[in-house]
Amino acid sequence: MDPYLRDVLDVLLRMLHVVAGIAWIGASFYFVRLDLALRAPKRREDAEAGVAGEFWGVHGGGLYHSQKYRLTPAEMPEPLHWFKWEAYTTWLSGFALMVVLYYFDAEVRLVDTGTADLEQWQAVALSVGGIAVAWIVYDVLCRTVRSQFALAVLGTALVALAAWGASELFSPRAAYLQVGVMLGTIMAANVFFVIIPAHRKLVSAMEEKREPDPAPLLEAKNRSVHNNYLTLPVLFTMLAGHFAFVFGADEAWLVFVVIALLTALVRVFFNRWHTGRREWWIPAVAAVGVLALALWLQPDDEARDVGAPVSIDQIQPIVAERCATCHSGIAAPLGVRLGTREEILTRVDDIERQAVLTEAMPPGNATGMTESERELLAAWIAQSR
Ligand code: HEC
Repeated sequence: MDPYLRDVLDVLLRMLHVVAGIAWIGASFYFVRLDLALRAPKRREDAEAGVAGEFWGVHGGGLYHSQKYRLTPAEMPEPLHWFKWEAYTTWLSGFALMVVLYYFDAEVRLVDTGTADLEQWQAVALSVGGIAVAWIVYDVLCRTVRSQFALAVLGTALVALAAWGASELFSPRAAYLQVGVMLGTIMAANVFFVIIPAHRKLVSAMEEKREPDPAPLLEAKNRSVHNNYLTLPVLFTMLAGHFAFVFGADEAWLVFVVIALLTALVRVFFNRWHTGRREWWIPAVAAVGVLALALWLQPDDEARDVGAPVSIDQIQPIVAERCATCHSGIAAPLGVRLGTREEILTRVDDIERQAVLTEAMPPGNATGMTESERELLAAWIAQSR
């Protein structure tokens, strides 16, 4: 794809994706809070009219009063507001972004020949196939396993399997994103295939003045809870591209599993908070987990082999050949220019982070940087401190 067209699409789709995602997750967090904070209605006529719970809130200069009906109110409400396009738009724009950045540019972004020697089309097929399989497996499990606890355990094991599988197939940065897209697709498909159809059945029962079948509504509720716990792990994968020390770690897939569990735990804390419980042991455990992760991922300075003195004269040609092909001139990615000695010297920490401590750069090792070049770079950096 033409690089300028790609940049323009990148900006437009990313803005749309982030804005739609905020609208989706914002509405979803709001309704989770609403649902968990419902209290029995104070007025007898509300209870008699079928109100199961009510919620008072103050926001934006006024008081709001929401009521949840046990099944349906006597009258068909008009207008009835739906919440679905936030989810669909987030998924569609996100997938389009994946196509523009990772499928069109698969050799550079998706494939890492050091991980798996895939052709561009093979990598794209594996990525799309993985996304479809993730939804099918999850949906079949939800329809067969009745216990939500068993589903949580199985789901965690499958997330671990997906994260490991992606790390064996794709570049480290793309592997995190792949898992995020798999989980994000499950969330959007839950809305499209389960939650909205259940709401349609509810509304048509109301229109036909008959009792709605509670089973689809219960399943919609379960899927909605799953989405709630998937939200933070998915958001993390979307931001993880900024953190080479995370996605570029030796056991990055395992790191992701730990992060997914810790962020889901944070949701547990907030969900309990909304019901009025303050369980401080939960954030305490999460904080200890984060600290342990930070220690685990800390780069190992001692292990660096500082042999014979290395001079910048040896380093500059390597950087010129392996990095400056992309990182020079006005269009250098993220403004990181490595064309001259001065530019290299001002970027030592960044170079170390991206090309020594992790192998995030060059992306997909596009310029074929060798291990001995990385070692030379490491030795030079260690000596220059
Ligand atoms: C094929 C082109 C290409 C090559 C070769 C390349 N990079 Fe990059 N680099 C990129 C792109 C694209 C980004 C922006 C990534 C993003 O979108 O976050 C980037 C980002 C970076 C960043 C900023 C990372 C951040 O998130 O702040 C650094 C530092 C960097 N590269 C260093 C290097 C070094 C050192 C080398 C050589 C060992 C190298 N790059 C080789 C394309 C390249």
